[in-house]
Amino acid sequence: MKKYEGDYSKTLETERLILRKYNKDDFEMLYKNYVSDENVPKYCTWNPCKTQEEANELLSSWYRGYEDPEKLMWMIVEKSSNQGIGIIRVTNKWLEENKCEIGYSIGSKWWNKGYMTEAVTELIYYLTREIGFHTIVAEEVSVDNIGSRKVLEKVGLKQYKSQDGKLYYKYTSKEIEDERI
Ligand SMILES: CC(C)(COP(=O)(O)OP(=O)(O)OC[C@H]1O[C@@H](n2cnc3c(N)ncnc32)[C@H](O)[C@@H]1OP(=O)(O)O)[C@@H](O)C(=O)NCCC(=O)NCCS
Repeated sequence: MKKYEGDYSKTLETERLILRKYNKDDFEMLYKNYVSDENVPKYCTWNPCKTQEEANELLSSWYRGYEDPEKLMWMIVEKSSNQGIGIIRVTNKWLEENKCEIGYSIGSKWWNKGYMTEAVTELIYYLTREIGFHTIVAEEVSVDNIGSRKVLEKVGLKQYKSQDGKLYYKYTSKEIEDERI
């Protein structure tokens, strides 16, 4: 795909949220609101942090991702409180297929407010219209992660089952669908 010349993780905005790059000054807030929350990483690859030190280590490891100027990763900020409440990012890219995978989570205090639907809608718009991806996927979605499945369906990804029986979701941008007609 054609190389995007802009700032990859540039600040994005929705009605109630700001998606922005985070930095070390945000670690305390992200510990309190997000990575210490035992409900959050149930379906993710990390464990809840019990201390600020543990959180700093985890958040630093993610933060180092920004060393890659093409990293696509944002802290989700609730505008009304100016609090960082979670992370949304591209977890994998297949540039030859114009395809990427997304991942996201927010602190449970902020669940069921429509926030992730709002954030993922904006992310997909940005990834397809500005960066140039044609296909967005969410792989290996747990059957019992109803919240995440609902978000993916609401923003337009379709559900598929892989050969080994795992669920995955896929969105193909309108332009591509039109080309195929
Ligand atoms: C999954 C998650 C991102 C959903 O975020 P959210 O901001 O609460 O989602 P929304 O408020 O936009 O909800 C979208 C829909 O899902 C529903 N929903 C959300 N969580 C739900 C749950 N646990 N059970 C059932 N429905 C749920 C909402 O009610 C809403 O439905 P509606 O539009 O019919 O009212 C959030 O629960 C989370 O961060 N979970 C932990 C991390 C995670 O599982 N991430 C994904 C895999 S790594």
